[in-house]
Amino acid sequence: MSFPKNFLWGGATAANQVEGAWNEGGRGPAKTDVTTGGSYKEPRYVTYIDKDGKPGKINQFAELPEGARYAVLDGYYYPNHKAVDQYHHYKEDIALFAEMGFKVYRMSVSWSRLYPKGIEKQPNKEGVEHYRKVFEELRKYNIEPLVTIWHFDTPLYLEQEYGGWNSRELIDLYVRFAATCFTEFKGLVHYWLTFNEINNTCAFIPMMKDMLGLDDEAVKERFQTAYQQLHYQFVASAKAVQIGHAIDPTNKIGCMLSTSCNYPGTPDPQDILDNEHAWENSTYYCGDVQVFGYYSPFVKRLWKKYDVHLDMNDEDMETLQNGTVDMYTFSYYSSSVVTRHSDGEKMGGNFAAGARNPYLQYSDWGWSLDPTGLEYFLEKIYDRYRIPLMVVENGLGAYDKVEADGSIHDQYRIDYYRPHIEAMSKAIDNGVDLIGYTTWGCIDVVSAGTGEMRKRYGFIYVDMDDEGKGSMKRSRKDSFYWYKKVIASNGEDLK
Ligand code: BG6
Repeated sequence: MSFPKNFLWGGATAANQVEGAWNEGGRGPAKTDVTTGGSYKEPRYVTYIDKDGKPGKINQFAELPEGARYAVLDGYYYPNHKAVDQYHHYKEDIALFAEMGFKVYRMSVSWSRLYPKGIEKQPNKEGVEHYRKVFEELRKYNIEPLVTIWHFDTPLYLEQEYGGWNSRELIDLYVRFAATCFTEFKGLVHYWLTFNEINNTCAFIPMMKDMLGLDDEAVKERFQTAYQQLHYQFVASAKAVQIGHAIDPTNKIGCMLSTSCNYPGTPDPQDILDNEHAWENSTYYCGDVQVFGYYSPFVKRLWKKYDVHLDMNDEDMETLQNGTVDMYTFSYYSSSVVTRHSDGEKMGGNFAAGARNPYLQYSDWGWSLDPTGLEYFLEKIYDRYRIPLMVVENGLGAYDKVEADGSIHDQYRIDYYRPHIEAMSKAIDNGVDLIGYTTWGCIDVVSAGTGEMRKRYGFIYVDMDDEGKGSMKRSRKDSFYWYKKVIASNGEDLK
């Protein structure tokens, strides 16, 4: 096995999916707090009061009706309010991570815990203190925190009053939040990611087209909005990178993308070309700006195709150039197929769509299981960027059964991880500079896509169900002991 000596083995979560305590410690609400639970078949909804005072709900990807205000309504369950209550259980959780031998724990800071509305001049002290304690606890066990600054949780006030990332003003507000993190947690945190899965904004429009039944005009509008929001996020990220380096030159700051490992469905040259273009829209669009510091030439085609006109200026371009990232990190769960040759049964679940691949198995949530795709992605991406890579999300969402004696035999999870770890090892042998691996949902979390608890990823089981019932008790699954062995042997012992 080829893992380097200091390889960062660990696990990952996000504040809104684990913390809970949504209205404690001075925290303000985020959009996830007005988002209901859903399922594989039923979407998550965002709830609101319309301009006439009537309650309503919309698909989480749809636009809020004019004049409506986000609202928590009676009669709905909002799973992120409690999540798995890591806010109060962090010591216990970190002790369990340490028992597995984690070298790194990827987590995020909730923006609205530090800046409840997002517009305050000074951060919420209680929020700062909370995270300081969490980082100190990690350090006690020599676990390196890897901190995502933004993980899908813009303060609700900014969503409502500023239209979220449609507004250029978000850049400075985000930069203030990021600078607070770099300053307050200097010396405690050295690894940072500016935006989680930044490319979701544009990558999932083709999927939303089907889900929301958008016509061509609506798709164009979506792209206009997405590329504009992305531009502001790129500038915000690049400014944060510069500030993070100025505050502590030892900081390593990365981009984070959701991977879309697409394959052409047939050797038809049109499929090959469409597939390449799908990589451009879904993956290279963002990665190139954040790693190279400028937009790649192919964006001309996309902007023309969708009639996109962006608010951007020379100063922005200089910022992008001076704020390139130190590492490229990404989530990898599955792959998809691009083809014009079948109407292709679509994949389901979270945000992934595409034709079905006959050579692969699928999870209960319709995600393809494709470890070879991970090797392919690592090699392809390293070849393009030549900077250190880290897999910061990978895992299997599955139903777990608790036996009468409390044990949980999740062999299927071990069977998922083993070939993915072998794939990373092969990529390293092939010259890829891979520095770490954080499995997604190392402790069970609320699913981002469906809002379920029953879609479990963890090595650690949390007694909490989809109606918010449960003791929050933590217990070790079989995979817990397995991953511990993997880490102890630096990836040698995968039995
Ligand atoms: C990624 C996100 O999209 O995938 C996580 O960064 C998310 O927040 C993960 O939880 C898995 O998706 P899901 O829908 O199964 O929770």
